[in-house]
Amino acid sequence: MGRFFSGKALPVLFLCIWFFPFAGSAYGQGYRKGMVVCAYPDAAKVGLDILKKGGNAVDAAVAVQFALEVTHPEAGNIGGGGFMVYRSSRGVTNTLDFREKAPALASMNMYLDSAGNVIPGMSLSTRQASGVPGSVDGMVEAHRKYGRLKWGELVQPAIDLARNGFRITKRLANDLNMGAKDFRKLNPGTNYLLKDTLWKEGDLLVQEDLAKTLEQIRDKGRDGFYSGRVADEIAAEMQSGKGLISKQDLQNYHAVWRKALTGNYKGYKMITMPPPSSGGIALLQLLQMVEKYPLSRWGYNRDSTVQLMVEAERRVYADRSKYLGDPDFYKVPVDSLLNPAYNASRMSSFNWNKATPSADVQPGKFAGYESDQTTHYSIVDADGNAVSITTTLNGSFGSRIFVKGAGFLLNNEMDDFSSKPGVPNMFGLVGGKANSIQPNKRMLSSMTPTIIEKNGKLFMVVGTPGGATIITSVFQTILDVIEFKQDMQQAVSSKRFHHQWLPDVVYIERGALDASTQSILEQKGYKIVPQGPSGRVDAILVMPDGTYQGGADPRGDDTAMGW
Ligand code: DON
Repeated sequence: MGRFFSGKALPVLFLCIWFFPFAGSAYGQGYRKGMVVCAYPDAAKVGLDILKKGGNAVDAAVAVQFALEVTHPEAGNIGGGGFMVYRSSRGVTNTLDFREKAPALASMNMYLDSAGNVIPGMSLSTRQASGVPGSVDGMVEAHRKYGRLKWGELVQPAIDLARNGFRITKRLANDLNMGAKDFRKLNPGTNYLLKDTLWKEGDLLVQEDLAKTLEQIRDKGRDGFYSGRVADEIAAEMQSGKGLISKQDLQNYHAVWRKALTGNYKGYKMITMPPPSSGGIALLQLLQMVEKYPLSRWGYNRDSTVQLMVEAERRVYADRSKYLGDPDFYKVPVDSLLNPAYNASRMSSFNWNKATPSADVQPGKFAGYESDQTTHYSIVDADGNAVSITTTLNGSFGSRIFVKGAGFLLNNEMDDFSSKPGVPNMFGLVGGKANSIQPNKRMLSSMTPTIIEKNGKLFMVVGTPGGATIITSVFQTILDVIEFKQDMQQAVSSKRFHHQWLPDVVYIERGALDASTQSILEQKGYKIVPQGPSGRVDAILVMPDGTYQGGADPRGDDTAMGW
């Protein structure tokens, strides 16, 4: 486990996206009746089939969520949680928070030893690392409110994929081989996702226990997971290793509808996720901070563009560390953080000649304030309803612990809490009181599922995995389209860069900056650290003629399918 979750945050930033560069994506455009863009081709096909059967975007999303549990076990999940941003064809917006919660027995110092130090790996690869899963209730709720087709029809394709098996891609074969050591070590007596020899492209992956679990969910909905056999199996799994999730925790779990967070950028309306994600607030702050500058004149990934965006990112991530957490437990100062005057004042220390050291940037102060592996899919249907969902187990394959008998992986989302003020989590993110562990609290997220409107009409659906880099990847993808006039696929494929206040470095995907841009920035004091691929943005753009253009991230097996 140490290799993956070393507690050394920096490499892990990019690690949840395995290092297989650009292959296998499908370019999709010209479709009018609907589109699905997600992390695995078989799951995209499931979503498209639901649209073709007359399902709407939410129906397709439910089917894709369950299909990804089967086909994309690195992140697709019933054992995790996520967020949905929804916009109806008439412009009605809503968001669903199906983020995991801390179990009732969780406590602030649960990952500290007697000397008060964080115990390495405890919030990552143990049964105590899991939050109470939210995905199944999230899908049930989304379907109850907006679904058109019958529930059972939406779960069945995943059951078929699990029971009959599906042919795995080279990338999945490789991921499974890399996870095998941990699967064996952490799950004695099971053979989930294991094979006697190495997995290879084209092998058939069959998951019979998972098929049975999905049948419970198909037949009993919420009760098929949060009570009855599967709940017993989760509780037994917890008891086998000091895990905290109880049957009561499962019964008490409920997804929450939250009012979408909205903001404007040069006439485009952003519809995004409020807390307990930090993503929406951070995205809107970033856009406010750069709006008055002539980015399109400077150009894509030019030194001024990168410098400005990095300085905005530095300040926004500092705020994130202090002010963002679960709004049900902590009064997140949303209005103050989104006040244009506040964000302008944050940029007043920005100096074109010199990088602002992160040590000189602290979380902002505002008057009157009193004192918190992943996958994304974007879907539009024939009517123009849109769904943007990011969902996660946190690390790749989550805690790598399966629920015995039920055949699915548990998340290690508890690591998204701040175990101790100032001590970085696996993404290098620091936090404090706002995101401290409390019973039944939701851990802070960076997930940023977003929908954009232009002139009152649907314009873009976008989101990505990538831990701390999620926010900056969504930010860049939006600017690549709006400012630099890239099409959807170009914007998704474009090389990215990232700054998160601490550590004080600019991560870049190799090749993101040309040599002269890099040297100008280095002369100004920016420490530039090249890394492997970052994020897997899956997005849809509505073209001026009303057709849909997909952007499927070539960093993964991501696929755009439309009709
Ligand atoms: O909610 C969050 O911010 C993290 N749990 C996301 C983790 C992630 O994106 C890992 N994948 N690449």
